[in-house]
Amino acid sequence: MKLRTINNVDFRGKFVLLRDDFNVQIVDGKITDSFRIEQSMPTINALRSAGARIAICAHLGRPKGVRNMEYSMAPVAEYMKIPLIPDCLDKEFMKNMKDGDLVLLENVRFYPGEEANDPDFAKKLANGFDIFVNDAFAVSHRAHASTVGIAEILPSYAGKLLASEIEHLSSVMENPKRPLLSIVAGSKVSTKIGVLKALAKLSDKLIIGGALGTTFNYALGGKVGNSLYEADQKNTALEILEFAKENGCEVLLPLDKGVAKEFIPTASRSNKDFNEIEDDDIIIDAGEATTKRDTTAIKEAATVIWNGTVGMAEWQPTWSYGSFEIAKTIAEQTRAGKLESIVGGGDTVAALTACGVKDDITYVSTGGGAFLEFIEGRSLPGIIILEDK
Ligand code: 3PG
Repeated sequence: MKLRTINNVDFRGKFVLLRDDFNVQIVDGKITDSFRIEQSMPTINALRSAGARIAICAHLGRPKGVRNMEYSMAPVAEYMKIPLIPDCLDKEFMKNMKDGDLVLLENVRFYPGEEANDPDFAKKLANGFDIFVNDAFAVSHRAHASTVGIAEILPSYAGKLLASEIEHLSSVMENPKRPLLSIVAGSKVSTKIGVLKALAKLSDKLIIGGALGTTFNYALGGKVGNSLYEADQKNTALEILEFAKENGCEVLLPLDKGVAKEFIPTASRSNKDFNEIEDDDIIIDAGEATTKRDTTAIKEAATVIWNGTVGMAEWQPTWSYGSFEIAKTIAEQTRAGKLESIVGGGDTVAALTACGVKDDITYVSTGGGAFLEFIEGRSLPGIIILEDK
């Protein structure tokens, strides 16, 4: 797919509405992970040095169309050391702007017209701007006023981050080095059916871990104790296994698990095979044999696509074991030049950061839902509209 990019566009003195995905985690008013902000800096810097007058439009959380200051963009403005415009529809600030100036608009989701993609709201948002630049890959699967509606009104272009996401993800989807191993984990089969099928079709091997893996184990008659799994997805799980078989993809399901009697970070851990799991056992992480099998599969692969941690990776060190071993092995192999690695999803990227290996990965996507939908082969409305036809 060819996108209209910001290269060769004359931005000098132009008012540019830049859509970014700064939907970052904030704890006690402070940003805990600035990855999405850092990744858009090349676009911001390019626009500034080209003389654009830039207002960043972004959202935080799901305030459901009301002005709820719990979801204010203020911590982001503070982090970036730029002025916050308290209302995204107020254009007064434009009067004082000079070439290269940068401001951040308050949460665009404070207005119901944003998620409804209301044409009137899009028009008000666009008012006063000359150009729209979209760098928000992570929200490009949503047809909202600030991703699609506005692109129908203003001349619109893909920012550097958005273009780079499409380039990297397309190249691994279209022409991966083989063998290709995909690792998918997470909690709900129902939200990952599409991506599991797409990856089963594309990959030589597919590891299904986490609570997702538990549902597959359950579908095959394994013991799951008091763990998180979806009993009603049994047939879907069996169907996916059949689909993978038909497509020549080997599926690797959990063999053993790290279990506890309580679902808390400090719970004491034991390693159990599936047939040893008792009714009151709770699966919280991948087991040792599973992890060994998974890291061996990574060492045999030429490409790895990873989305979803295989346990409670944020409960370190006891329950991060399986996810961290996967992260470290992928990083080691990539560093050694033996592997191309693509990782996406908030918790998965957080696991890379916690292990200190994020910079070793070939490509880390800023997308969560958008990353999954792209891999699934769905067309993302925020991107389609930027296509250079
Ligand atoms: C994300 O964090 O994945 C994006 O910002 C999309 O957020 P949403 O799921 O609330 O639309």
